[in-house]
Amino acid sequence: MSQIKIFDTTLRDGEQSPGVNLNKHEKLEIARQLERFGVDRMEAGFPASSKGDFDAVKLIADTIKDSSVTGLARTIKSDVDAAWEALKGAAEPRLHLFIATSELHMRDKLIMTPDQVVESAVNMVTYAKQKFPQIEWSAEDASRSDLAFLASIIEQVIDAGATVINLPDTVGYATPAEYGKMFRYIKENVPNIDRVALSCHCHDDLGMAVANSIAAVENGATQVEGTINGIGERAGNAALEEVAVALKIRSDFYPYETRLQLNEIKRTSDLVSKLTGMYVQANKAIIGRNAFAHESGIHQDGVLKNVETYEIITPEMVGVSSNTLFLGKHSGRHAFKDRIKELGVELTDEQLKEAFNQFKQLTDHKKEVTDDDLYTIVMEIKTDS
Ligand code: KIV
Ligand code: ZN
Repeated sequence: MSQIKIFDTTLRDGEQSPGVNLNKHEKLEIARQLERFGVDRMEAGFPASSKGDFDAVKLIADTIKDSSVTGLARTIKSDVDAAWEALKGAAEPRLHLFIATSELHMRDKLIMTPDQVVESAVNMVTYAKQKFPQIEWSAEDASRSDLAFLASIIEQVIDAGATVINLPDTVGYATPAEYGKMFRYIKENVPNIDRVALSCHCHDDLGMAVANSIAAVENGATQVEGTINGIGERAGNAALEEVAVALKIRSDFYPYETRLQLNEIKRTSDLVSKLTGMYVQANKAIIGRNAFAHESGIHQDGVLKNVETYEIITPEMVGVSSNTLFLGKHSGRHAFKDRIKELGVELTDEQLKEAFNQFKQLTDHKKEVTDDDLYTIVMEIKTDS
């Protein structure tokens, strides 16, 4: 099994979700939970962006010791200086430096020629290296960049001192095959690539962030970046809990492991959801309310006989206390009988038949039948008979 490093950017890219604004105490609370969850690296913020973010990154860097803390910087000296001031107290200070490399971004956003971008990137890595032992360098919009240009700039920033090369799919445009191919190309065409770690960073605009991250790992990435619950710019980032559980559940297929404590997933997800105000959709993979709920009678019957019929992940693995059999119009007699037993009510076969009929009638008007509804039905039947 080879080790995949997990780089969490909930507190930076995740906080870039429209409407999210965390104060330094909230950020620290999340950082402590990320440390318990076992992330290798956490991006605490963008120190040059505001006084509030500077203070938050500093507080986290001074407190967190079991994960390496990093901060984002543009290719600007004052950004690097601010990042150093915020991060110098960290156990392993790390800088995340980025500049765009696609023709579109260089021409229309940076208004720079490719040669100027190379010069600026190399100069800034050289400058930052005087302070930071670990420098991650990101080629923003890498997946839409010219591959030969990308290979050439990567070779030069490695010579200047970068220790991690990150290739973001900034606008969530790549397909898994294409994104994987880019990693393969870089591995094969950058002569000094084995001196650094390769990292993936995917956005979810086409719903492929997790698949793209796994494709990158299969093609040489040894670090996955993402966020808890997949929050982030626009449609968000790769959801780390999905990547981690997919690698674990399909370890027959993927020979990779992470240091994450999977049973901390639910707690981490709940905390991020509560503090950011970004609610998790019910059908979200791994941690949605319905991820371990079964409604149809056929499924409920199967799960009661052997849980593996319809469940590939145990709720306990991700810190959820147990699965739920949701009682609604698709539920069958078996699940109904089980719930009545759990309520501690003894019914004869005849009473059970009548209770089930009444329950079915109720599901025509109500989406979910609660334990209180069931209790009312069975107690009335018991009193009448
Ligand atoms: O998506 C992206 O390109 C980024 C960079 C700043 C790394 O978040
Ligand atoms: Zn991003």
